[in-house]
Amino acid sequence: MINEPAVTEYLTGLEPEPDPLLAEMRAHGQRDRIPIVNHTTGGLLQALAAATGAKRAVEVGTAIGVSTLHLARGGAHVTSFEVDPERHAAAKEYLRRDGLEADLRLQDASEGLAGLESGSFDLAFIDGPKAGYATHLDEAVRLVRAGGLVLVDNVLMSGGAATGTSTDQWSQESVDLIRAFNDGLKRREDLRATFLPVGDGVALAVRQ
Ligand SMILES: C[S@@+](CC[C@H](N)C(=O)[O-])C[C@H]1O[C@@H](n2cnc3c(N)ncnc32)[C@H](O)[C@@H]1O
Repeated sequence: MINEPAVTEYLTGLEPEPDPLLAEMRAHGQRDRIPIVNHTTGGLLQALAAATGAKRAVEVGTAIGVSTLHLARGGAHVTSFEVDPERHAAAKEYLRRDGLEADLRLQDASEGLAGLESGSFDLAFIDGPKAGYATHLDEAVRLVRAGGLVLVDNVLMSGGAATGTSTDQWSQESVDLIRAFNDGLKRREDLRATFLPVGDGVALAVRQ
């Protein structure tokens, strides 16, 4: 929780009611304790994909496909990586049921990203293992065209990024890692990054 609970509740309430499929996916995530983007982050992803007219997006961390669904509903064809076979299969089925085409790959993201063509994506969304964020960011910068977007979730880690201490959700190791990651992101000359207090914190960077 990075905002006052009442503010978070209010913002969540302003998001459109999830349709039956999205509601089912969210219930699945909650039941099986699968970490998925919250409502406001999902709304942001969908709006950014639509507003920028992103045709091709690449994603690290499909889980059961909630963020993928938002990007795809925003108009992007998404290439997404996941290593958990059950989550990968569930995501495929949900996207199919929504009538959306996506390239969902059961593959380690670092391996998969390395095989994709430089500059061929309009948008990248990084939401996989936190220990891989630095490597995945380098790959995302290579893959996104000039003027495209690189988005990263959980950059505020329930406030731990700001206080420098662990939270109920995030270990001290993760907090130290994200603080170093955010510092590095801010300093990159090939990106113009800004940090949004949406959901668990989203970094939004424009590829220079
Ligand atoms: C935070 S979840 C992704 C949530 C998803 N983006 C959403 O909001 O709907 C992170 C996912 O990354 C997956 N993962 C872990 N290591 C990975 C790797 N090396 N390559 C690809 N995915 C990985 C995990 O299994 C997990 O499902």
